Amino acid sequence: MADDGNLDVVVICGSLRKGSYNAALARTLPKLAPAAMKLRTAPPFDTMPLYNNDLQVSAGFPAAVTAFADAIRSADGVIIVSPEYNWSIPGALKNAIDWVSRMEDQPFEDKPVALQSAARGAMGGARMQYHLRQSLLSLDALLFGRPEIIVTFAPKKFDEKTLELTDQPTIDIVKQQLAAFDKFICRVNGKA
Ligand SMILES: Cc1cc2nc3c(=O)[nH]c(=O)nc-3n(C[C@H](O)[C@H](O)[C@H](O)COP(=O)(O)O)c2cc1C
Repeated sequence: MADDGNLDVVVICGSLRKGSYNAALARTLPKLAPAAMKLRTAPPFDTMPLYNNDLQVSAGFPAAVTAFADAIRSADGVIIVSPEYNWSIPGALKNAIDWVSRMEDQPFEDKPVALQSAARGAMGGARMQYHLRQSLLSLDALLFGRPEIIVTFAPKKFDEKTLELTDQPTIDIVKQQLAAFDKFICRVNGKA
């Protein structure tokens, strides 16, 4: 945990594709965060094998799972930026959560978590957020409430070529969420 007055926040992107709108949104966050919030990218989770308890028992936790869990455990807070797949959590992200959930020192316990999503359609990934909220609640994560970041019709909100977030109302609400999440983390940690 940061002890220099800054907040150390890990960002997890639920999309693995290069041209991802969610990854583009995640890249925007450092620019929009309050000065004291320092953001770092979570280690990759796409190399984790599919969760299988037999594998865990025979070989222990894979290095990618340990690195991912360590990053979450050591952070003051976590922001998950993810698309919605078939009205729910993308499989690779859910697999990563399932792996770390089996650890004795389960990293999401008492961890402040904020959610964001972007999608091409009118729902903006909202249904995924509610499933993610439910799963993380089962791990005793401390879920940030409002404002919610649900980026609908993503192709209209990002520059077609550079993928830079250009939609001012979205930029404004992301700023508001990050400022409120900063306060939430401080409240949870007894720093405010
Ligand atoms: C397997 C799959 C399932 C999808 N299901 C949904 C869905 O349920 N709701 C939705 O809004 N978009 C859905 N989409 C479309 C995504 O919103 C769109 O591909 C988006 O660009 C993915 O996010 P990304 O750009 O960060 O990769 C789905 C896409 C894929 C590949």
